[in-house]
Amino acid sequence: MDAAAWDERYAATALVWSAGPNQFVESELASLPPGRALDLACGEGRNARWLAERGWQVTAIDWSQVAVDKGRQVNNAVDWRVGDALTAPLPAELDLVVLAYFQVAADTRRTAIRRSFDALSPGGTLFVIAHDSTNLTEGTGGPQDAAVLYTAADVLDDLAEVDLEVVRAERVARVVDAGTAWDALVRVVRR
Ligand SMILES: C[S@@+](CC[C@H](N)C(=O)[O-])C[C@H]1O[C@@H](n2cnc3c(N)ncnc32)[C@H](O)[C@@H]1O
Repeated sequence: MDAAAWDERYAATALVWSAGPNQFVESELASLPPGRALDLACGEGRNARWLAERGWQVTAIDWSQVAVDKGRQVNNAVDWRVGDALTAPLPAELDLVVLAYFQVAADTRRTAIRRSFDALSPGGTLFVIAHDSTNLTEGTGGPQDAAVLYTAADVLDDLAEVDLEVVRAERVARVVDAGTAWDALVRVVRR
């Protein structure tokens, strides 16, 4: 889907994603002390807004103008920006980057993950949550296209040449109405 298609999707309903944060963003990141964060491919900004409410100074970027406008309407303390995750200038020296459900081709994903990591200060956290590849056969929901699904191992592979500490890299279950959805969760710290 390109930016125009995402605009159309976001314009069609009041909220495409939940009002509150993703459950893994909340459980993994609630204990981090507030600092400077980036929510890349933020959509309507459910995670960006939650971080801002917890005292983080947040920049949120998505290429959908409609999504960004919806986020801004709810919380204008976030620095909302319309931009492409591959080319938009990113803030530097961040304490946290969140990349949630960025389901794109592998080369695009790798570029976004590498530039997200590069935007961190030493000690900063990169948190990735995504529909896991195995969700196609063992789970429910999410894109039904193997080309845009990935695993925690794929994300670590994207970061193979950088100096980091792996805090968590695994498949996690998310209970939804239709059953179990499988997500890939990666939490790493830049050394
Ligand atoms: C599944 S949604 C997830 C939104 C948000 N991260 C969340 O978890 O609520 C994926 C988002 O990625 C955005 N996106 C996809 N490709 C992008 C790109 N190249 N640059 C910026 N945003 C992109 C879409 O516009 C969409 O908002």
